[in-house]
Amino acid sequence: MTDIKSYLNEKRELIDSYLKSYFVSPSSPSVLHEAMKYSLFAGGKRIRPILALASYEACGGDAKKIIPQAAALELIHTYSLVHDDLPAMDNDDLRRGKPTNHKMFGEAMAILAGDALLTEAFMMMTETNPPLPPFTKVGNKNIEPPFYKEGVGGFSGERIKPSLLLKAVREVALAAGHNGMVGGQAQDIISEDAEPDSEALEFIHLHKTAALIKASLRIGAILAGSSKKQLQALTRYGENTGLAFQIIDDLLDVEGSAEELGKSVGSDSRKKKMTYPSLYGTEGARNKANELISIAIDEIGIFSSEADPLREIAGYLAKRRA
Ligand code: IPE
Ligand code: IPE
Ligand code: MG
Ligand code: MG
Ligand code: MG
Repeated sequence: MTDIKSYLNEKRELIDSYLKSYFVSPSSPSVLHEAMKYSLFAGGKRIRPILALASYEACGGDAKKIIPQAAALELIHTYSLVHDDLPAMDNDDLRRGKPTNHKMFGEAMAILAGDALLTEAFMMMTETNPPLPPFTKVGNKNIEPPFYKEGVGGFSGERIKPSLLLKAVREVALAAGHNGMVGGQAQDIISEDAEPDSEALEFIHLHKTAALIKASLRIGAILAGSSKKQLQALTRYGENTGLAFQIIDDLLDVEGSAEELGKSVGSDSRKKKMTYPSLYGTEGARNKANELISIAIDEIGIFSSEADPLREIAGYLAKRRA
């Protein structure tokens, strides 16, 4: 049995120390660099990167090998929060326990910091891990170290196969873009103040939130070279926990506290958002979330103990207060 609190802490530290080292050298203009770091290091559960690592481990991988790819998900998620809080969208003042990005840096810089985080995610994802070793020079000729060749010595499994990385990059682009998160955010805005519509609501939640969570699971499986069956199981786990995650987020907006959440509560009803509690009541929403979490756990029944962290994370997400 995994101690889920220490598992989450350990993985969060891995992600955070990588992110810190990635953004250590300043870039120009410094205000843009500061705005990016402000939201990225304001806190946050790092749940998407952790899910990617846990999925990779469930398929037999060693989490340390895909830290850049997992951490890149956090850049995309953070950009989505910065833009989500803008006056033109949810118009919120508090995020991760601090004033929102546009409150600190102004709207223009918040938009640009979001743009830069999104773009940098793809630089980060395609970083080779470990860095390419130097070539040895013999006379005028560059000689590749033997372990550098695919399938030879330590190379295989040490660096990610380009074909797998390409698949993972496309997966993340799909989940973040108009057929994923951005599409969900657009429908969320269109549906403000609209007649209750259960189909539209499911579309919003599956796209604005579940898409990136599902992609986190999928890239873990893809990068580990999983079987089709494993990928399918992790996809279903991701979709179900992803939908439950947003339903619980809606519930916390009604039942939670700004202190615990680090963001304003009551924001959804102020903006007349279409949410699970507004359509089904808090009890109906809670029952739906619990049902989805238990389906998610059942979906990964083909795995043995390597998937225990994923089972525990699902349980933790169901009970979360922040
Ligand atoms: C909040 O996400 C926005 C949603 C998609 C529901 P998180 O609850 O993961 O926020 P952080 O990253 O921990 O701040
Ligand atoms: C946002 O949903 C989902 C994103 C893709 C950012 P919400 O608007 O409910 O997220 P919070 O409650 O502001 O974190
Ligand atoms: Mg929103
Ligand atoms: Mg919001
Ligand atoms: Mg919310």
